[in-house]
Amino acid sequence: NPTVGLIGWRGMVGSVLMQRMAEEGDFDRLNPVFFSTSAAGKPAPRGAGTLQDAYDLETLAKLPVILTTQGGDYTKAVYPKLRAAGWDGLWIDAASTLRMEDSSIIVLDPVNRGVIDAGLANGVKEFVGGNCTVSCMLMGLGGLFKAGLVEWGTAMTYQAASGGGARHMRELLNQFGGLNGVVADELADPASAILEIDRKVLTAQRDGSLDASQFGVPLAGSLIPWIDADLGNGMSKEEKKAGDETNKILGHAAGSRVPFDSLCVRIGTLRSHSQALTLKLTQDVPLDEIEQLIAADNEWATVVPNTKEASMADLTPVAASGSMTIPVGRLRKMEMGPEYLSAFTVGDQLLWGAAEPVRRMLAIATG
Ligand code: HSE
Repeated sequence: NPTVGLIGWRGMVGSVLMQRMAEEGDFDRLNPVFFSTSAAGKPAPRGAGTLQDAYDLETLAKLPVILTTQGGDYTKAVYPKLRAAGWDGLWIDAASTLRMEDSSIIVLDPVNRGVIDAGLANGVKEFVGGNCTVSCMLMGLGGLFKAGLVEWGTAMTYQAASGGGARHMRELLNQFGGLNGVVADELADPASAILEIDRKVLTAQRDGSLDASQFGVPLAGSLIPWIDADLGNGMSKEEKKAGDETNKILGHAAGSRVPFDSLCVRIGTLRSHSQALTLKLTQDVPLDEIEQLIAADNEWATVVPNTKEASMADLTPVAASGSMTIPVGRLRKMEMGPEYLSAFTVGDQLLWGAAEPVRRMLAIATG
């Protein structure tokens, strides 16, 4: 069995990765060496000996393949040193650090297996999972991009707290609890005045009594129309990633870039990212053909009929969370013309958005 170093397996993305690897029987085909940044020498999971020190370059350098979900700071601290020491193995990473390097490939094999295989054949050694919103969008709508039908696209996103991390999810739930607490008595009395409830909630959202140390401002009962760094040009880093990574995953050279621009918004959901898309198609394709292209592209993209009932049942974060299925719905032509397509898609930010693309890359690399 091929030996693989696993780093960051205890974190949120790492835990989802471990669960998926167990579900898919990956551990039966691998010899895992577990690393830790803080608990070297303690017992490793799955009876795999003891935890190795994640900063020990000599031990890392013995491995043919390393997969990390430890985060960007770890990648920045360790990866260049490992290469400088002459390590020649494959580095598979969920963090964004190396994503846009010319030396790396962004992995989403149901969409870009050809790009991955060509990279492996050409000696590429860095395989990086994409931004969660981008990966979920391409898993849903990849069929239209691959058919060359997208002239340009734009996404308005509704991104979950998990994109910030585990502490962000806890903070959101504590805020919900805090807001409920300030009006619990009034809510128990159906005759209480709704505007008084509204005033008390707004006061709690504004007076600093809710812990907002992770998000910076209260998210519960509100939203935050900015994700990741301010690039100083009116764009958030998350919005820049959407266009850049979409084109890199699809293997588009600079001259054949499909313009894809977004407005990324954090909302009070837990772990599924949603997005409302407008796609300008290169031609007037009938809606039933569009639905077929989407559904036939990969086994996870699923068309949800554009009805109120189906959208409410199957096209929500509550429906998509914990599931590998990527529902795509609200498909219709827009008033602007028959080449303008409206769509809505949802994906579990921790599965296809983070753990699954790197899990599958590990299977490809060691298969
Ligand atoms: N940047 C994403 C978010 C997380 O904050 O939702 C993962 O790519």
